[in-house]
Amino acid sequence: MSTKINFTIDGKNCSADKGMFVLGAAQKNGIYIPSLCNIEGLAPRGSCRVCTVKINGKLMVACSTPVAEGMKIENETEELHDLRKQIIELLFVEGNHLCPSCEKSGNCELQALAYRLKIMAPRYPYQFPVREIDASNPKLIKDHNRCILCKRCIRAIQTDDGKNLFAFKQRGCKLTINIEPSTSAAITDEIATKAAKICPVGALLKKEVGFVQPIGHRLYDHLPIGNTASLNIISSREKDTNT
Ligand code: SF4
Ligand code: FES
Repeated sequence: MSTKINFTIDGKNCSADKGMFVLGAAQKNGIYIPSLCNIEGLAPRGSCRVCTVKINGKLMVACSTPVAEGMKIENETEELHDLRKQIIELLFVEGNHLCPSCEKSGNCELQALAYRLKIMAPRYPYQFPVREIDASNPKLIKDHNRCILCKRCIRAIQTDDGKNLFAFKQRGCKLTINIEPSTSAAITDEIATKAAKICPVGALLKKEVGFVQPIGHRLYDHLPIGNTASLNIISSREKDTNT
């Protein structure tokens, strides 16, 4: 039997089942907390910090913090808005995100969050790193310029016998997503499609398709990220990709 937990978000009374994380519990109560590395259905990693909220006065990440009775959660405040904005700006300057020429434009969560947070120009200097585009896999292109190291591909994509197909390689600013040569052949059309969908940006692209959805038909062309309807589309898309 589920136990209901009562809490507030920005003063609104909310309730959720015991064991839920703040991010999902907020969504169940119709409240959007921005997130990026989190994917419904997989254990949260709390790595991007975009979902930072204030819980009982302390900064905490919403995706990996379980709801507790009486929590007072702050979400829509100037301070949190600016903190999330800074994280997104840092991600933009740290890579090479050339949105107008990116196949994921309009379906990209990073771009959509930038629009939502009204980012015009980042306050930090662009790093313009020299990064590789790797087309060596027969099914997938990896564009390291766009990878935000969210680890979604590592966590979500596995072979039928539970082996990871993606892994991190190197460390620090040299950290990249790697496809193990030994498992590279296991990337089927189906896995490549799933990987391209699970990637929140255009860092993983399936070969032999391109710009399938014309402008006007892309996920965020009409509804900003965080809109309830977009959330439903995202969760059903994630359900598809997790099956
Ligand atoms: S390739 Fe995509 S899903 Fe994988 S870590 Fe990079 S941004 Fe995340
Ligand atoms: S979505 Fe919570 S830390 Fe990334």
